[in-house]
Amino acid sequence: MNREALLSYFESYNENEGFLSYLERFYTKHNSLDTWEHCKKVAEEAKKLALAYDADPIIAEQAGWLHDIGTVVPNDEKVKLCSALQISVLEEEVAFPYILHQKLSMKMTTEVFGLSDSQLLSAIGCHTTLKSDMSTMDKVLFVADKLSWDQADAAPYIKEIRVKSTQSLDAAVMVYLEHVWKSREHMKVVHPWLIEAREELLKVVS
Ligand SMILES: [Fe+2]
Ligand SMILES: [Fe+2]
Repeated sequence: MNREALLSYFESYNENEGFLSYLERFYTKHNSLDTWEHCKKVAEEAKKLALAYDADPIIAEQAGWLHDIGTVVPNDEKVKLCSALQISVLEEEVAFPYILHQKLSMKMTTEVFGLSDSQLLSAIGCHTTLKSDMSTMDKVLFVADKLSWDQADAAPYIKEIRVKSTQSLDAAVMVYLEHVWKSREHMKVVHPWLIEAREELLKVVS
C-alpha cells in the first residue's frame, strides 16, 4: 500500500497540541475551514443523536470530527489515490469521485490517526451513502451530517429530517434516502450502497 501518498496530506503532530487543534490546523492548511466548522457541528449533532438512540457518544463525536478529512484530496486525485491504497472504486465513484471522500476519510482515520474502532470506521466509511446492514452508529453519523450542511435550514427535507430525528432514527434516515430517490433522474449518479440501504430500510419503515 502506498501510505506515503496518503501521509502527504498531513503535517506532523506537535506534542501537546491536542487532537482538535491539530484538525483545525489540518483544515486551515487545506483552505477548508468551512469544512472544519461543518465537522464541529456534525460532532455535536452526532453526540446528541447517539445519546438519544443508545449509541456511544464518544465514538459518535469522533466520527463527526473525522468524517470529512478525505475531502481535502482534490476530486481529480481521488480515484488515483484510492487505487494506490488498494481501496476498491465503483464505476459510480469514477463518474462522481467526490463520493470517494468517505472511503478516504476512513483510510486516513486508521492510517494517520491510528484509530481502529469498527463502529467509528464503518460510520465514517458510509456517511454519504449509507449501506446495507447499517448500524445505529452509521445512521447517527449519516443523519448528523445531513443536519449540519450549510444552508441546512433552508432545505425543506432537512427540516423534515430534524423533526423525524426526534421520533425515529430510521424515519430520519429515510427522509433523505427518499429525497435522493425522488431526485435520481436529475442526479449524476445514485450510489449503489444508497439504493441497497433504501431497499433494506423500506422493509422496516412504513
Ligand atoms: Fe462527507
Ligand atoms: Fe460532512
